Amino acid sequence: MSVKECNGEVIISLRNVTKSFQGRRVINDASLDVKCGETFIIMGCSGSGKSTLLRHMTGAIRPEKGSIFIKGKDIANIPLKDLDEVKKTFGMSFQYSALLDSLTVEENVALPLREHTKLADEIIDIIIKMKLSLVGLRGFEEYYPSQISGGMRKRVGLARAIALDPDIVFYDEPTSGLDPVVGGITDKLIKDLSSKLMITSVVVSHDMHSVFKIADRIAMIHKGAIVEIGTPDEIKNSQNLLVQQFINGNPEGPIDLFKEPE
Ligand SMILES: Nc1ncnc2c1ncn2[C@@H]1O[C@H](COP(=O)(O)OP(=O)(O)OP(=O)(O)O)[C@@H](O)[C@H]1O
Ligand SMILES: [Mg+2]
Repeated sequence: MSVKECNGEVIISLRNVTKSFQGRRVINDASLDVKCGETFIIMGCSGSGKSTLLRHMTGAIRPEKGSIFIKGKDIANIPLKDLDEVKKTFGMSFQYSALLDSLTVEENVALPLREHTKLADEIIDIIIKMKLSLVGLRGFEEYYPSQISGGMRKRVGLARAIALDPDIVFYDEPTSGLDPVVGGITDKLIKDLSSKLMITSVVVSHDMHSVFKIADRIAMIHKGAIVEIGTPDEIKNSQNLLVQQFINGNPEGPIDLFKEPE
């Protein structure tokens, strides 16, 4: 596994990203910068647009307006074949694991290696074992997703996300549904990957405990708009009432989840 050059330069840059579905604006003029090697958290309420924003960063969705620069390349406005090249430098850990049920754990982790490389089977085998031991799942190679727990499935997803030694890993809710210990282990794993391998991590989360533990910087999204960006201390001390309501989990405040969509 290679340790990458990383000097805190901006590696992901969103400018005025806007997206509507069926005439309803879901991402509203969002701009942010992620620096190389940092753990950048996107937090916000359910339905605020976190996963949709992340999917823009991975090139899965194209915005109707705005730019998404990854290492200087605007992936919102490049041909699809060029996008595929950029995507090879990403890893993605999905909100609902997204493992293929008909494949074993090792076959799931091998998928990106088989799809994007011409490595020999023996080499792929070694890489899989390395990645599975990183997430604490050596010995489960032959299991099917239905034979392991939800937390283990998430970790298989993580092993798959780092299979190609990516520069950037996108995580959607990596700790949701995990018990506190496994959640803590997952947090540590994300942090270790960032600091030891210089992987840039973009993490969607509303698990406040995890957010403050692993974040270098945090962006809060509300109704598709970025309402605040800062370090954990800046966010804790933010004067923004939306931020305060969210991090303290107050039922009362400007966030109104039961309002009809606009
Ligand atoms: N493909 C789509 N078509 C129509 N609407 C969509 C689509 N994808 C997302 N949306 C809408 O965008 C809004 C934001 O969804 P998103 O999944 O990004 O929320 P989220 O912040 O990730 O929520 P959660 O915490 O529940 O995962 C929702 O109102 C959702 O209905
Ligand atoms: Mg989501």
